[in-house]
Amino acid sequence: MFQPDLLKDKVILVTGGGSGLGKSMGKRFLELGAKLAIASRREEVLAATAKELQDATGGEVFYTTCDIRKPDQVEQMMDAVWNHYGTIDVLLNNAAGNFAAPTATLSHRAVDAVLNIVLHGTWYCTLALGKKWIAEERGGTMLNIIATYAWTGAPFVAPSATAKAGVMALTQSLAVEWGKYGIRMNAIAPGPFPTEGAAMRLSPTGSFEGRLESIPLRRLGKHDELSNLAAYLVSDYSEYITGDVITIDGGKWLAGAADFSKLDQLTEEEWAQFAAQAKAQK
Ligand code: HXC
Ligand code: NAP
Repeated sequence: MFQPDLLKDKVILVTGGGSGLGKSMGKRFLELGAKLAIASRREEVLAATAKELQDATGGEVFYTTCDIRKPDQVEQMMDAVWNHYGTIDVLLNNAAGNFAAPTATLSHRAVDAVLNIVLHGTWYCTLALGKKWIAEERGGTMLNIIATYAWTGAPFVAPSATAKAGVMALTQSLAVEWGKYGIRMNAIAPGPFPTEGAAMRLSPTGSFEGRLESIPLRRLGKHDELSNLAAYLVSDYSEYITGDVITIDGGKWLAGAADFSKLDQLTEEEWAQFAAQAKAQK
């Protein structure tokens, strides 16, 4: 499926593409023939990533700084990428902000810090490019990175959960409203994938490795696995998929939701005692 020309000449803009998962997905898009644009706030990070990815793949990487919380900067980013490549085919809304803290300790500024990036920033990018596509009478594909707690909620990261739920609703709403313009909207909900940005902010140990017991497949996600899913969802092979959220989490959220998941920890002896106790109820 992943032929080297899968994404040939598709212009793909990745927000937050200088680090973590955005960087990995951008690299995969380049390997599959795409022309890449990356944007975020830190120019030195973008410049280093652009060079690294160009050297590694031989593909073209354009970068432009943008704080997606600022609608003017978002417009400028879209214009810069559009002028550079002559079009934009795909937007990957990947940029995010997050941290774990007891909710009762948060100030309103702390809530805004996450909501402004994840919900408002994603909205501004979506609206700016969607309007361009509609005015140009051309379609396009948007892919939004959310999290499985968009539908379960999550203690200690409630602003992020709220914002990701909003991005899921945005995805579903516009898939229907903009389908007639040839615009596809989908989302990916990843489980834990090791990145410095996430692990340092979300785990007191700075690593997700301590959580493997809660994942049915007993390992963290690999960046290539997410990148290949993203490549499929922005490729022409998924042309009839819109409004969906694909989960890639090794079964983690279902295990957390299922009442009996913890029985997995019983020893053989404990199972035998348990069975005897249950059978005695006849
Ligand atoms: C409590 C905090 C805090 C923390 C910031 N604040 N960090 N409160 N605990 N850890 C408060 C500050 O005290 C301040 O409130 C307010 O939030 C704004 O802080 P700033 O530092 O001014 O915010 P800003 O510079 O806008 O930075 C935004 C940020 C930062 C979100 C706080 O972490 C950031 O830039 N993150 C970008 C990258 C990122 O987060 N990547 C992780 C994505 S991982 P006061 O009241 O003091 O003024 C992810 C994974 C999802 O999303 C799923 C995993 C399974
Ligand atoms: P990351 O490396 O910290 O990525 C976040 C990116 O967003 C950074 O490149 C950052 O760049 C950019 N960004 C933040 N605020 C921005 C702003 N205001 N304007 C423009 N760009 C901004 O973390 P990650 O783990 O790769 O996360 C990537 C995506 O995956 C996020 O949507 C996250 O919620 C999602 N996710 C991650 C995991 C995981 O386990 N890692 C799980 C589920 C979902 P600058 O600082 O330069 O702006």
